[in-house]
Amino acid sequence: MLNEIRNILSEAQVEDFRRELETADWSDGRGSAGYLSQAVKRNAQLPDTHPSGLRLGETIVMALEQNARFVSAALPQKILPPLFNRYASGQEYGAHIDGAVRPIAGTAHRIRTDLSATLFLSAPDEYEGGELIIEDLFGSRSVKLGAGDMMLYPGSSVHRVSPVTRGVRYAAFFWVQSMVRGDVERRILFDLDNAIQALARDVPNHAELVRLAGVYHNLLRRWVEV
Ligand code: NI
Repeated sequence: MLNEIRNILSEAQVEDFRRELETADWSDGRGSAGYLSQAVKRNAQLPDTHPSGLRLGETIVMALEQNARFVSAALPQKILPPLFNRYASGQEYGAHIDGAVRPIAGTAHRIRTDLSATLFLSAPDEYEGGELIIEDLFGSRSVKLGAGDMMLYPGSSVHRVSPVTRGVRYAAFFWVQSMVRGDVERRILFDLDNAIQALARDVPNHAELVRLAGVYHNLLRRWVEV
């Protein structure tokens, strides 16, 4: 399931992030790429222990935890502290697949990358190219969102960032280990949750709502790992 979640960050937060990122010391993005990805990765990245990255990453995680659409779609168990990248003109990240397991920097913990997320920090008119292109079951989808908006997609998808041909593209990216491992099961739960919420708004006193909420939780109980 590809899920677009708007306004994870406010305009003021994006401005704050950008002030900090534009003056930060960036490193070569290949430092954190696996063997195959290194050959196709051309960007800059903040080191995962960079104080600005840690601070901004915490702000993102707090915003995510309060975002009902994210929680419903991802059913997060663990969120990897967000990382930050920067693509200047001529840079790109060719087709690759994210590693299935990522260490959490500075700890002995690891997460399974059920979901990948890209949070755009540059407005679409600030750069040309730089689309996130995700291949899914129905073909490939080209994504370029507003600053503060986020794309959530299965960690299993092949994806790339097309070359930036003008301007600079800043983004945060991270992975989520979900309480529900399978994308198909997560999608069913997300659809059901949304339908129940819409019915609860439109026919709030309908007796069958309790039964539907029960179906949601009984499915979740079958599939959840906690
Ligand atoms: Ni990737």
